[in-house]
Amino acid sequence: MPPSLEELASLIKEVQIDARRAETPDELAQAKARALGGRGFLKSALSQIKDLAPEERKAYGQQLNAYKDELEEYFRRRADEISAAAKAKAEFFDGSLPGTRVQMGRLHPIRAAMRHIVDIFVSMGFDVFTGPEMEYEKYNFDLLNIPQYHPARDDMDTFFILPGLVLRTHTSPVQVRVMEKIRKREDVIVQMISPGRVFRRDRPDATHTPCFHQVEGLQVGRGISMANMRWILDEFARKFFGPETRTRLRPDYFPFVEPGAELAVTCSMCEGKGCRVCKETGWIEVMGCGMVHPQVLLNVDISPDDYSGWAFGFGVERMAQVLYQVPDARMFFENDMRFLRQFS
Ligand code: PHE
Repeated sequence: MPPSLEELASLIKEVQIDARRAETPDELAQAKARALGGRGFLKSALSQIKDLAPEERKAYGQQLNAYKDELEEYFRRRADEISAAAKAKAEFFDGSLPGTRVQMGRLHPIRAAMRHIVDIFVSMGFDVFTGPEMEYEKYNFDLLNIPQYHPARDDMDTFFILPGLVLRTHTSPVQVRVMEKIRKREDVIVQMISPGRVFRRDRPDATHTPCFHQVEGLQVGRGISMANMRWILDEFARKFFGPETRTRLRPDYFPFVEPGAELAVTCSMCEGKGCRVCKETGWIEVMGCGMVHPQVLLNVDISPDDYSGWAFGFGVERMAQVLYQVPDARMFFENDMRFLRQFS
């Protein structure tokens, strides 16, 4: 016997309650299946109509159909409500919530220092040239007046790659490459810097890393003297380390310059009074420099009788260490975010 119409009415009530509680399309589909599915109670009531007395069948069947239509309409509306609620939830924007912190990329402090250095020289009219990191010994040594058995080669522990090929130990070979190509007509024939990576077989410590960065500078022309060098390097030091910075030149030896010098800047920590950072001297040595050796000019077919020039070279890590008071150069290569985040 099929359920009575009253029983059906109360089953339908229950399904409607379940439908109202359903919050997802899945939950709703389950409630719907209980009434209207293949094994739902409406289906099974329908299949049992034949058990009723013939005169009851018509009214029962009509009522069954009315219930079915009513329920289907009910589920349709509920499905619309559920999808509208989901849409509203997805679109809801709470402007009062705190924002999500975005991790922005930034320049590595060495890259930033390099760019700063390049900008300073470009603002003074210098051109920027780069050269290969794997270099011919001819450019890295020979043409710079460091021939095969020159003791100065020992100062630069070199990575040898193939016979005649090394990882460059300094960016000075770029000045040779540029001088080889220039047109020798104007008063100032070269005014350039060459920033880049260099390599030396050094045991890493607080001031040495086997790979580091250098900026080399060169000015060649008629009547160029050490005074031009002094002025440019002073100007650079003030722009890089601060307007109060003073510089000091002392004799030094590099095979490719004569006379050669070392440039020191006043310690910015103690303003020259003497402290731990400058080892109580008030001065910090930051670069090598000097007048281009006549032999180097001859090596690239520039007459030292008509032309003269000066050059400098320094390590970017050292400059950054002095500027930012970084105690150990290795920190620049460890990629510890806690260290790197301090620079912007
Ligand atoms: N090339 C030298 C070095 O790597 C630096 C330097 C460049 C010195 C130019 C004098 C002139 O140490």
